[in-house]
Amino acid sequence: MSSARQSKPMDVITGDPRTVDADLVIVTSFEVQTSPLAAWASATNAEVDRAIASKEFTGKLYETFLTPLAGSGVRAARLAVMGLGQQGDFTVDRARRVASAIAHIARQKKIARIAFSADGQLDSPDMIQAIAEGLTLAEFESGSYKTSEHDTFELEKLDIIVPDGSRDAAVQAVRRGRVIGEQCNIARALDNEPGNALTPSVFAERLAEIALGSGLTVEVLDHEELERLGMGMLLGVGRGSADPPRLVVIRHEPPGAPKAPVLGLVGKGITFDTGGISIKPAADMDRMKDDMAGGAAVACAMCAMAELGAPIRVIGVIPIAENMPGGRALRPGDVLTSASGKTVEVINTDAEGRLILGDALWYAQKMGATHLVDIATLTGAISVALGKITSGLFGTPAAFVEHVRQAAERAGDRCWPLPLFEEYKDQLRSEIADMLNTGGRNGGAITAALFLREFTGGLPWVHMDIAGTAWAEENKPFMPKGPTGVGLRTLVELAFTSQTWNRGT
Ligand code: BES
Ligand code: MN
Ligand code: ZN
Repeated sequence: MSSARQSKPMDVITGDPRTVDADLVIVTSFEVQTSPLAAWASATNAEVDRAIASKEFTGKLYETFLTPLAGSGVRAARLAVMGLGQQGDFTVDRARRVASAIAHIARQKKIARIAFSADGQLDSPDMIQAIAEGLTLAEFESGSYKTSEHDTFELEKLDIIVPDGSRDAAVQAVRRGRVIGEQCNIARALDNEPGNALTPSVFAERLAEIALGSGLTVEVLDHEELERLGMGMLLGVGRGSADPPRLVVIRHEPPGAPKAPVLGLVGKGITFDTGGISIKPAADMDRMKDDMAGGAAVACAMCAMAELGAPIRVIGVIPIAENMPGGRALRPGDVLTSASGKTVEVINTDAEGRLILGDALWYAQKMGATHLVDIATLTGAISVALGKITSGLFGTPAAFVEHVRQAAERAGDRCWPLPLFEEYKDQLRSEIADMLNTGGRNGGAITAALFLREFTGGLPWVHMDIAGTAWAEENKPFMPKGPTGVGLRTLVELAFTSQTWNRGT
């Protein structure tokens, strides 16, 4: 299984990028704006000018031009010019993606020591943090089980070159970006672990270990404690598995933090989702090993909060279970009693996420959360609605949802709100219990969210459905196929901006 920290040194350098000691110096250029590159004419033997004149390099987003460097005082071996696209379209998110894209290229070309020049519009603290995040995301090591042919090449040094005056702010920004990027990679490595390696007990142990390592307080509730708490929904989902459910509770309580708000974060931790007795089709079922991506995002986001000193109280609640068929498994039609006392008729055992989250939301509230945010690979319906690019946002009141949406936008996690109109609730009406656990195909992501709302006790609450976004199905310049770590950066951003959402919500 993959080890925790994978990253190498990342230093902030000032001075002339031409004299930096690196295997590759990276500079950037907007589309058709090439003047900053004049400085490189002699060191590249006019190669950059030639590439621009011949339109080999035009500055389109992610376009890359590599050329050797030579000349007196020049220490770097090669130069990469990376396109930023149109200047008017440029955002912090693009800076993150461009940094990640070039670091991925360096890794493919086995270039070990890289230095990214953050000049021009890239030198604000937000931009520099995003560049540090992007470079770090490219270090992701998925934790291969191959015994041969496994490419073990790693980046050795990733430096950021900043203008003289901005060094102190840049050092802080790089630290934030570095820690957030590293925690994202730890979450991604967990998402990648197969279900036989990351069973409920192992997942709970791993989360406890990494949370303790970052200075957080952790409690792991076992089967008996869950019974005492009456968590019938979490226990019900876990019944078919040989490895019973767990509830991991993580606390960030910085000394001197105000008593309120208390941000309650809840993350779905299904270590494998077969669907249970309502079993899933064979095609792509292997993907269901990442049904714990929300849980990993919550735990790793809290590690980043602890390491970076987020100034508020946060409680993380991660319900963990394996959804399996078996002689003791939940049957369609079974009625479960939740910890909150509400009863649920389970008509589809594959709608298990909302069951375990319902008990966890109730617990977070009981433990003193004043605001709730849950994150879950909850429904296939969310990718029908929003595709694989955007996560779904739901919640109440609208102002709190909007604050989370803005935090996500700053953090570079695409998401968009969907409605929770009361009329949808009819789809959850049961003949014999308080509600059904699924409302059918139509509006499936919405009825799932309405189910969760029943367990939020009226607190401000946002639900992020990441079923379409937690796993990338194709390679992009900035993100390879596989686990994305989506949502983690949003949660960290929320913990640092409580002044925006703690008023009036
Ligand atoms: N874990 C799945 C959702 C999912 C689907 C995640 C595809 C990632 C990719 C969830 O537990 C599930 O099975 N949801 C069902 C709900 C339905 C039975 C109401 C679904 O979306 O099909
Ligand atoms: Mn399911
Ligand atoms: Zn699931």
